[in-house]
Amino acid sequence: MSTTPTAPATWYTDPVQYDQERWRIFGREWCAVGDTEQVGEHGHYIARVVAGFPLVIVNDQGTLRGFHNVCRHRAGPLVDDGGGQCRSFVCRYHGWAYQLDGHLLSARDFGEDVRAENFSLLPVRVDTWRGIVFVSLSNDTAPLAEWLGGLVAHSADFDTSGLVVTHRSEHRIAANWKVYAENYQEGYHIPLVHPGLNKQIVSSRYEVEIEGAVTVHRAPTRDGSVTNGAWLWRFPGLALNFYDRGMSLESYWPEGPTTTLVSYTFFFDASVSPEECEAAVTSSTAVLDEDRIICESVQRNLAAGVYERGILSPRYEAGVALVQSEVRRALGLSN
Ligand code: FES
Ligand SMILES: [Fe+2]
Repeated sequence: MSTTPTAPATWYTDPVQYDQERWRIFGREWCAVGDTEQVGEHGHYIARVVAGFPLVIVNDQGTLRGFHNVCRHRAGPLVDDGGGQCRSFVCRYHGWAYQLDGHLLSARDFGEDVRAENFSLLPVRVDTWRGIVFVSLSNDTAPLAEWLGGLVAHSADFDTSGLVVTHRSEHRIAANWKVYAENYQEGYHIPLVHPGLNKQIVSSRYEVEIEGAVTVHRAPTRDGSVTNGAWLWRFPGLALNFYDRGMSLESYWPEGPTTTLVSYTFFFDASVSPEECEAAVTSSTAVLDEDRIICESVQRNLAAGVYERGILSPRYEAGVALVQSEVRRALGLSN
């Protein structure tokens, strides 16, 4: 096994490449934008901006529908970002109203000039898996179950049907999304960046197994106890951890060339005490904070202009190479 060169530093700062990634990666892949509890009843919606695409997902009589949160009149917002409940979408700008299935109900004071069928909201695909709501902006992307690939088989032993959401949070990192994605893909940094985690697991034996666009992470615990869980990731921004009585979802996407939004959702069984839930959230957030600090320093250094490219360890950084090869493939890059 020999080393491979990393991607060049320009990948992490170039606004032109960022725009290509918006359309060719985040505009194509499935993206986890929330959980089904947020849209459990008619009229309940989730509104989020994913890689610069404002989206709304709504429960319309039990069916989940997704749209660009962009009015067909002059691009006003239908709902504010976040979530809530509504009976129809009434644009915040001039009040055009749409049914929850996207059909235009009324174009205020336009009269006969507007043919409603020409001004339906622009739809996006929506699907769910294990209580997670996914969207895809592309009709060419494989169905969700197929897209999830090895994630489905690797989590098959975990029953998540009785879990409820106990915690949701958002975190911003001042780094390109690939800095964060690549950091997620290796355990090589654990002894330096995560001293607490390093006391629990044998980081020298941290393994990242690659199956297509999915990676399976494993590390033995120092006390020799058997960890009954599965740590799974799928390109570009989905990370799922399964435990005996819970599941955590981490979904991330860019907000710009040098900002990444990380969204956490924890699901637990009713038998897990609030203190145990809190402890799981606290330790995950501590690890995230440690990763944020190092990723932001790396971003600063990539932007400084002195570093061109480095090398990847075949032993520890195959997952990083996967992120870079997926980006190359999506963008048709050769560097
Ligand atoms: S932009 Fe929506 S009503 Fe004008
Ligand atoms: Fe880390």
